[in-house]
Amino acid sequence: MNEKVRALLNQQVNKEFYSAYLYLDFSNYFEARGLDGFANWYKIQAQEERDHAMLFYQYLHNNNEAVTLEAIDKPEAVFDSDMAVLKAGLHHELYVTSLINDIYEAAQDVKDFRTMQFLDWFVMEQGEEETNANDLISKMELFGSDPKSLYMLNSELAGRVYSAPSLVL
Ligand code: FEO
Repeated sequence: MNEKVRALLNQQVNKEFYSAYLYLDFSNYFEARGLDGFANWYKIQAQEERDHAMLFYQYLHNNNEAVTLEAIDKPEAVFDSDMAVLKAGLHHELYVTSLINDIYEAAQDVKDFRTMQFLDWFVMEQGEEETNANDLISKMELFGSDPKSLYMLNSELAGRVYSAPSLVL
C-alpha cells in the first residue's frame, strides 16, 4: 500500500476513536442535564464511531499493513447550551467528511481502487451522519424552547437502538 494512504488510514483509526470519545462526552453532558433520550442518542453514536475505528483498523490488518495506536485527545468543551452541543456535532461530522475525502483523494492519486471501494461505504455513511446532525438541530430549533415539546423530543431520542454497521470486513 502507498505510504501516504496507509498513514491516512492509520490516522483515521485515531480520529474515529476521538469521535467516539467526543460523543460520549456529549452523552455525559445530557446525562447531567437529565435529558436521558439525548444522552442515549449520543451514547449510541459513540458506539457507531468505535465501529468505524475498528473498520479502519481491520482494513489495514486485512491488507497486511501495520497499525499504530496513538493517544486520543481530550474532547473539546462545547457545553454552554444544548444547541451548542448539537451544532458541535454537525461541525465535527463535516470535518470527518473532509478527512474521508482526503483519504479518498490520496487513494485515487495512486489508483488504489481497493481502498476507494472500502471508502465508498464511509462516503455514504458521512452523508447520513450529516443528515442526522442537521435533523437534530432542526428539531431542536422547532421544539427545544417549549418544555413539553422538548420532553417529547427527548422521548423520541430515547428510542434509538444500536445496530451494527452494514459493512463487514
Ligand atoms: Fe465516523 Fe461520525 O463519522
